[in-house]
Amino acid sequence: MAEVLVVGAGGREHAIVRALARTSPGTALHAAPGNPGIGADATLHDVPVDDVDALVALARDLAVDLVVVGPEVPLVAGLVDALTAAGIPAFGPTADAARLEGSKAFAKEVMLAAGVPTAGHATVTTVDDGMAAITGYPVVLKYDGLAAGKGVIIATDEPMARATLIDMLEDRRFGAAAVVVEEFLVGEEVSLLAVCDGERAIPLAPAQDYKRIFDGDEGPNTGGMGSYSPVVGVDAARAAEISALVHQPVVDELARRGAPFRGVLYAGLMLTADGVRVLEYNTRFGDPETQAVLPRLRSDLLDLMLRCTAGGAGLADVDLTWDPAWAVTLVLASEGYPASSSKGDVITGLDALPDAIEVTHAGTGVDGEGRTVTAGGRVLNLTALGDGPGAARDAAYAAADGVRFDGRQLRTDIAARAVERFAG
Ligand code: AMP
Ligand code: GLY
Repeated sequence: MAEVLVVGAGGREHAIVRALARTSPGTALHAAPGNPGIGADATLHDVPVDDVDALVALARDLAVDLVVVGPEVPLVAGLVDALTAAGIPAFGPTADAARLEGSKAFAKEVMLAAGVPTAGHATVTTVDDGMAAITGYPVVLKYDGLAAGKGVIIATDEPMARATLIDMLEDRRFGAAAVVVEEFLVGEEVSLLAVCDGERAIPLAPAQDYKRIFDGDEGPNTGGMGSYSPVVGVDAARAAEISALVHQPVVDELARRGAPFRGVLYAGLMLTADGVRVLEYNTRFGDPETQAVLPRLRSDLLDLMLRCTAGGAGLADVDLTWDPAWAVTLVLASEGYPASSSKGDVITGLDALPDAIEVTHAGTGVDGEGRTVTAGGRVLNLTALGDGPGAARDAAYAAADGVRFDGRQLRTDIAARAVERFAG
């Protein structure tokens, strides 16, 4: 029996665990550190995601056949390098390849070298250079570093741009030494993820996520408040075309540089009137896109991941198969998110959910009385499948109606546009 260790503690990792259990039955699943929801599907080990040495030791003790690294922090810290050096197969990029996510300036440089279409930009290190690089408003300002989805500011006028640059460069809020000043693009956003074996990239089903906290895309950016898959207008043929523009050239470029990309390459795209543009790369599964994409996967996920690792069989001849159903994922967030998060609010209604609803836990805990409580910003994800976006959306919102906790935040417009576009 294959043994797999999934590193992470969020909804994405819960979705990965559940997809492994469903598509690769009989796999023994472990998670570090996981969360109470993951604990129902895998054996939990109390090791934090940023303790590289302890994770390598755990993987060795468990003698696992594969480690799947969910979040960006351990990837950028070199967990995959350390596991590979210890002879343990690991799904995810090395630290060198993960710089695509860890540094927006590096990602831009690779995109230029690889000929990938992206927004016009300048990388600056001083406020004056930043102001000089701005040619009009709105303008997009991005921290050159990991910022948990909160490092992008769209400045609508000069005072806001100056204040943002000062905040990013002089106050060094996230330790950024540089800022990417980028052209503001308009269009439909699509997340297209690809699995990569160092040479080839194969796209997964497309998804859309909702980054802002409030309905109508108002309020600050979050890690993501909902998602759905597939996307109207991006069928398999179009996804393959886009992937050939945005994934394969980067995989080729990194291979040329001696840093082959293995794992998931996530392209955050804008479909503009002038064609597709890359907004960002992530070097891992998206959260919450994964919660909508993986429930639709019919192929064996463990086999797919093993093929992507160093020494794996590679992705040649792999043909992914998908459930034609639509999936809609809602994020239930706690009071104050994204500025803060509340802890310890009792969650009710989980036991009464229909089996068809995929419940993935993100920020949950268990209190002294054994009750499931909130323990983070994004608390729970509810995913429903349906024959079309409307059926999936209705089922997801009906489920969310029954799951309650004090201060609960839920966007009411997830996948609404998909329903309209699908119909029209
Ligand atoms: P990023 O982390 O780079 O994907 O940016 C986060 C969000 O900011 C994106 O999902 C977009 O909604 C928005 N964004 C980023 N870059 C641009 C851009 N060049 N033009 C317009 N919106 C952008
Ligand atoms: N949903 C956006 C991300 O995973 O970064």
